[in-house]
Amino acid sequence: MAGGGFATAPANGVEFEAKITPIVIISCIMAATGGLMFGYDVGVSGGVTSMPDFLKKFFPVVYRKVEAGADKNSNYCKYDNQGLQLFTSSLYLAGLTATFFASYTTRTLGRRPTMLIAGVFFIIGVILNAAAHNLAMLIAGRILLGCGVGFANQAVPLFLSEIAPTKIRGGLNILFQLNVTIGILFANLVNYGTAKIKGGWGWRLSLGLAGVPALLLTVGALLVTETPNSLVERGRLDEGKAVLRKIRGTDNVEPEFADLLEASRLAKEVKHPFRNLLQRRNRPQLVIAVALQIFQQCTGINAIMFYAPVLFSTLGFGNDAALYSAVVTGAVNVLSTLVSIYSVDKVGRRVLLLEAGVQMFFSQVVIAIILGIKVTDHSQNLSKGFAILVVVMICTYVAAFAWSWGPLGWLIPSETFPLETRSAGQSVTVCVNLLFTFIIAQAFLSMLCHFKFGIFIFFSSWVLVMSVFVMFLLPETKNIPIEEMTERVWKKHWFWARFMDDHHDDQMFVSGDVNGKKSNGKSNGFDPSTRL
Ligand code: BGC
Repeated sequence: MAGGGFATAPANGVEFEAKITPIVIISCIMAATGGLMFGYDVGVSGGVTSMPDFLKKFFPVVYRKVEAGADKNSNYCKYDNQGLQLFTSSLYLAGLTATFFASYTTRTLGRRPTMLIAGVFFIIGVILNAAAHNLAMLIAGRILLGCGVGFANQAVPLFLSEIAPTKIRGGLNILFQLNVTIGILFANLVNYGTAKIKGGWGWRLSLGLAGVPALLLTVGALLVTETPNSLVERGRLDEGKAVLRKIRGTDNVEPEFADLLEASRLAKEVKHPFRNLLQRRNRPQLVIAVALQIFQQCTGINAIMFYAPVLFSTLGFGNDAALYSAVVTGAVNVLSTLVSIYSVDKVGRRVLLLEAGVQMFFSQVVIAIILGIKVTDHSQNLSKGFAILVVVMICTYVAAFAWSWGPLGWLIPSETFPLETRSAGQSVTVCVNLLFTFIIAQAFLSMLCHFKFGIFIFFSSWVLVMSVFVMFLLPETKNIPIEEMTERVWKKHWFWARFMDDHHDDQMFVSGDVNGKKSNGKSNGFDPSTRL
């Protein structure tokens, strides 16, 4: 999960000396495996749950419903089964619970042991899943994978941000999301291949191949070093300095080390980070972080990511064609994330989110209209032409998500919190995200059954709401140094500025004040007085 910005930024706008050392490269590989693992878990369940052999073994009721065809059951309802949804969603429920433990181990044991714990959870989970004989084993495996996700998604982004030189931190952040999308695509490709295996064990291979990213993450965690920030935080100052020299590839680390000590001192003065988060002056960031996570999931993206094969087969594509379409959406997802990496610091966050809002709204409405007219409960006459149009519209929608809400849903919360609440803010961000991912995963097939084609109208209404939110309430954070957000973003915002009054005794650590930076007097984001 992309969550940059935990490392301290240079206090006075000075750049610290840093080379891109092998350790930093290994960190990128870490990011890749953490993201791959998460993405693989997101992508694998949809393909597996549309494989007849898998359904026959674990969900015979669903299997019989699907086999009976549209004569007996509504097209929109054949996969509606709480157990089947639990298979997908249990991972997220376990993940969000694990986040709280992970936040503790990340602080007390360090980032590296937390990643190791994640790797071990993943490996055991994969073994249980691939060897599953009954539903209990299957769900137990998914729960362990979920624990892995909770631990990895808390520790890996933290690790990355702390080990990365400041100037490539943003890039590394979206790189993590890129790897989530590669993980999803990899899972779709694997499912495409394993669905063809005769003999009924293809699903075992799909679930078992998650062992590849799991092993890579575990070996990676054994190889890398602990971050200097974590060592300093736990009082191991000499070791921290030695590691800093090693990762920066220079002996000249005094300025950064001093900054690190200061950051750790300030962070330690905040006794209750979570309570601190609730204070009035942290309200804007908290509201934005929580809203962004809820909105990201209410775009409906995971309805597509988890259930694309099921969805396509609901729409009357054959099983093979269904997986094939899922591979196409997976590839669009990866390529469009590259667009975001390229443009996010050029055109800014707001432009990407607002443009994508229009694109997602349009494509969802078109899909709803086609399905509304062509796919009824007991018959479907989706001709080849219309079927292709639906796939094109789904790709248009996925592309828009992948250069906006996908990466930015993670990037923005991670760059707007001041240092004192950044790590607590990240826990809340991960937790709310997984909670809403769980809700969508658990509810989607039932919603499809009840709302039918209207499900796409439901999600498009959310897209409208979130675009209005972005328009009025989300400030632009492009090119603003992370420790200057308070002064240059929040205090200048037409609405949020009212939460930023300085008359609180406990306000001494608002980062802009620490740095003594003066604002540039420019307003960020929507200003109704000038733009309406
Ligand atoms: C979201 C995931 C989603 C993925 C799709 C991520 O940003 O948090 O829930 O599955 O994007 O690419």
